[in-house]
Amino acid sequence: MITEQIKKAIRDIPDFPKPGIIFKDITPILKDPALCDNIINAFVEQLKGTQIDVIAGIESRGFLFGLTLASKLGVPFVPIRKAGKLPYTIKRKAYKLEYGEAVIECHTDAFEPGQHILIHDDLLATGGTVTAASELIEEMGGIVAGFSFVVELGFLKGRERIAPISDTLVVLAEY
Ligand code: PRP
Ligand code: MG
Repeated sequence: MITEQIKKAIRDIPDFPKPGIIFKDITPILKDPALCDNIINAFVEQLKGTQIDVIAGIESRGFLFGLTLASKLGVPFVPIRKAGKLPYTIKRKAYKLEYGEAVIECHTDAFEPGQHILIHDDLLATGGTVTAASELIEEMGGIVAGFSFVVELGFLKGRERIAPISDTLVVLAEY
């Protein structure tokens, strides 16, 4: 049910941001408050039984549902941001992209060692971003409680990449 609602709302944009890529545009979802509510409720339902102390959302689209989900669960939200955006003391992690390198950062006081951190993002593609986020969290003493995504691009096999990190994976719509 929720899967169909999400797929109906998502807009395919051919050749964005590069020729040959079909971009999954989630902005129509954000214009539908009832659907946003259903998405949060589906995450809450499917995460029942998972110990979550903190939700870490990945900049930028992981902020959209990450904060609302954290509020709904009554746990803190912490942002994992692209390089140079966070003002306080940070811990950083560089990781490889198809071409070049990217850096993500997290505030050093984002959570306490031993806390269970759910990593949330809008989309699981190759899994490179959330793997780097997991490594950053573990280097800071956190325990990765699992992952949640609105959308998964299954053909990119991100699921296989993150499977060794945690068994908990919630995906609401898969392509
Ligand atoms: C997209 C998407 C995920 C990531 C998935 O973000 O929102 O964060 O890529 O890719 P991966 O699984 O191959 O790592 P993007 O870097 O386009 O930035 P944005 O969220 O700021 O739009
Ligand atoms: Mg993103």
